Amino acid sequence: MWAQSCRSGVRSEGDSRVSQAFSFRIPEAIHFGPGVSQRLPELMRAYSSQRVLLITDPGLAAAGVAPVVVDVLTAAGSEVVTFQDIPPEPHLADVERCRSFAAQHDVAVVVGVGGGSVLDSAKIVGGFAGYCKPLVDQLDREDEGVPPGLPIFLLPTTAGSGAEATAGAIVTHRERKRRLTGCPVQPVVAVIDPTFTRSLPPHIAIACGVDALTHALESYAARRASPMSRLYSREAYRLIMAWLPPLVANADDLNVRSKMAEAALYAGIAVANAGAGAVHALAYPLGGKISVPHGIANAMLLPHVLQQNVAACPEAYAALAQENDARGVQEQCAAVVDAVQHLLGVLATPTGLKEFGVEECTIPSLAAEAYTIRRLLDNNARAFSRADIVALYQAAW
Ligand SMILES: [Fe+2]
Repeated sequence: MWAQSCRSGVRSEGDSRVSQAFSFRIPEAIHFGPGVSQRLPELMRAYSSQRVLLITDPGLAAAGVAPVVVDVLTAAGSEVVTFQDIPPEPHLADVERCRSFAAQHDVAVVVGVGGGSVLDSAKIVGGFAGYCKPLVDQLDREDEGVPPGLPIFLLPTTAGSGAEATAGAIVTHRERKRRLTGCPVQPVVAVIDPTFTRSLPPHIAIACGVDALTHALESYAARRASPMSRLYSREAYRLIMAWLPPLVANADDLNVRSKMAEAALYAGIAVANAGAGAVHALAYPLGGKISVPHGIANAMLLPHVLQQNVAACPEAYAALAQENDARGVQEQCAAVVDAVQHLLGVLATPTGLKEFGVEECTIPSLAAEAYTIRRLLDNNARAFSRADIVALYQAAW
């Protein structure tokens, strides 16, 4: 029974069996640290940086975060054109407008300054810069016939999405979350300046942190997880459990923000390689149809999916228990579930879908859509039927 619904790839330390084969992708370069954004011109020197497209959102433009980057680039001699109309949870049409803007201005480099929505948009615009047809034909395909794109520099202003480390990008199209992956050979450089995350209100910082937590947990237990991806998942989980609670009381503390930025990066690397799971599959219809913020949707679904996953696949989670926990697998898993539930309680994240206007009668259609997101459900530690998914939404309602 367990073997049919749960992969058994998670191994304990000292496992003497033959190593599992795996591949691993990571951005071409990662530059991390408070103030590192000031080095952007130097980091871009290897690429043609004459005309730069800076992509951001209206809030970051008004808050002065994006203009700081414009000033740094302009002072170094780059010509910068700015597109600042990326909304939260962007639609394909929003990104297409940005792609047209890039083509009109004949830019050589794309810089994204923002949260996951902006960074994903920057990846699409840069990754598909050489692709002349509408992007709708590329939704949910894997790099089919995409010519080389432009260099992409990603400067996250949130600590959560990990979009600076993932190859794919999510957009909404016809009320559904769809995925795009651009040309796989263009350089992507992550420039993570934790001072940028200080512009984020605490409640959004917490929601982003829960997204990173979900990435760590889902990637750790994913069917596509590898020994290397688990290194990142585990360290991300450890950092998040230690540094997300202090965000509640010390939201302006740069050290707290830095630790969470580091955790989100590791979780992003992990999920880029191992993939996410059922929490994300169930969260996407809530974002696409009802515009529930991604991190909040994850927070409401995570405890329920985690309970089910752990019950079916305890080995997939036991190694996340504290290093000095010498108890059996069941007790270790229970400790992980308890720790996650306790953390969500401390963070006081929303617990009911009804708080966001989700009507109970819509659950079957939400479940029907979630059930079609096979790349996530088939990667989840245990299999979920459509009826299981209905039950999960009801538990979270
Ligand atoms: Fe996510």
